[in-house]
Amino acid sequence: MSDNQLANKSQAWSALFSEPMSDLVKRYTASVGFDQRLWRADITGSLAHAEMLAAQGILSAEDHAAIQRGLNEIAAEIEAGQFEWKLDLEDVHLNIEARLTERVGIAGKRLHTGRSRNDQVATDVRLWLRGEIDEISGLLGGLQRVLVEQADRHADVILPGFTHLQVAQPVSFGHHLLAYVEMFARDSERLADARRRVNRLPLGAAALAGTSYPLDRERVARTLGMEACSQNSLDAVSDRDFAIEFSAAATLVMLHISRLSEELILWMSQNFGFIALPDAFCTGSSIMPQKKNPDVPELARGKTGRVVGHLVGLVTLMKGQPLAYNKDNQEDKEPLFDTVDTLKDTLRIFADMLAGLRVKPEAMRAAALKGHATATDLADYLVKKGLPFRDAHEVVAHAVKTATQQGVDLAALTLEQLQTFDARVEADVFDVLSLEGSLNARNVLGGTAPAQVRAQVARHRTRLA
Ligand code: ARG
Repeated sequence: MSDNQLANKSQAWSALFSEPMSDLVKRYTASVGFDQRLWRADITGSLAHAEMLAAQGILSAEDHAAIQRGLNEIAAEIEAGQFEWKLDLEDVHLNIEARLTERVGIAGKRLHTGRSRNDQVATDVRLWLRGEIDEISGLLGGLQRVLVEQADRHADVILPGFTHLQVAQPVSFGHHLLAYVEMFARDSERLADARRRVNRLPLGAAALAGTSYPLDRERVARTLGMEACSQNSLDAVSDRDFAIEFSAAATLVMLHISRLSEELILWMSQNFGFIALPDAFCTGSSIMPQKKNPDVPELARGKTGRVVGHLVGLVTLMKGQPLAYNKDNQEDKEPLFDTVDTLKDTLRIFADMLAGLRVKPEAMRAAALKGHATATDLADYLVKKGLPFRDAHEVVAHAVKTATQQGVDLAALTLEQLQTFDARVEADVFDVLSLEGSLNARNVLGGTAPAQVRAQVARHRTRLA
């Protein structure tokens, strides 16, 4: 045997192969560089598998004990940073299995009975992702709580609401923040729903067709806290829908973060001046001494692109694959890992940053007073006095034109001036022309009246408790 053939002996399929792999092919096909992060899930899955093999009489009690001891020792080695990952052993599964045999001998070689790396890797990714989803759900809850408290603090702060980025109607800043809470609440629901389909057990599908050993798959599912066993072996080893679903849910979270980022960036610009972000989340310029840049929201907006890209990558990865397992599937990991990392960092940093958000109510108010934001309220006022809405709309348009020509807000016109547009106008018109009047009038479920905002704050607090 040549040296190369000897080296090849460490590979799981070596007997059939007469030609060694080049270093390039090894590097190209190996996943251990990134999939080692699945080690804990891999060991958890193997422990559950071995326990079941022993209970079914497929594995002796001694072998089971040796495997258990070996796997726990390996876990300790990895945790201590003392495990040597070998590229020659391709992936996390073969690395751990080879080390097990090194440590406990022949029992280690029996662990893989009734199992294939195909159902093993699908199980590992699901176990790992389930844990990550739980962490992400916790972080999403934390971010929502920060927004709800800010909303409560600023229920009475008025800013111009926009459509087409043109001043439309005044809204409560608290109401505006709670719009994002609604988005993140839907994200939490979506993740919880996706988790149910993540949490199913492929193990027992073996390579693709099931196995001839009398496995008790339900037992493994129970041990691993999984909701069900997959019911078709071909589907079990080839399905990555769960990863795509998660990525789609993650993409929506980032999309919401990105929209919020865009607003924070606009609001912090000199032209708006509505808010200040805490210094710790901004950077200066190396040349312009006056600058304070909203780097964190800008980066979050930018990172949204990579999460969207990962989703597209995964969908594209799957679209042409015939049943069952194909090596293509190895490419599911890096996008998934990066999506999880990006999401967790972003949610953490946003919760911290928004807890320190400073609001400038005077600037918001001044902006709301600039755009005739209560024009709709004047039209509604005239409708309540008997004018059809279309006519009222027209009357108010004339009033807005006059106010604009005079360089004042609609609310600054005198009673006499307003009466020239329609005789029905009386002194009580100023109750609705004021920003507060406009806000308080929208006291409908889901509306911007501060009373509604407070009711929503209470609902969210209960929901998030
Ligand atoms: N590293 C592989 C992956 O991530 C594990 C499964 C390998 N299976 C196989 N038949 N080559 O998909």
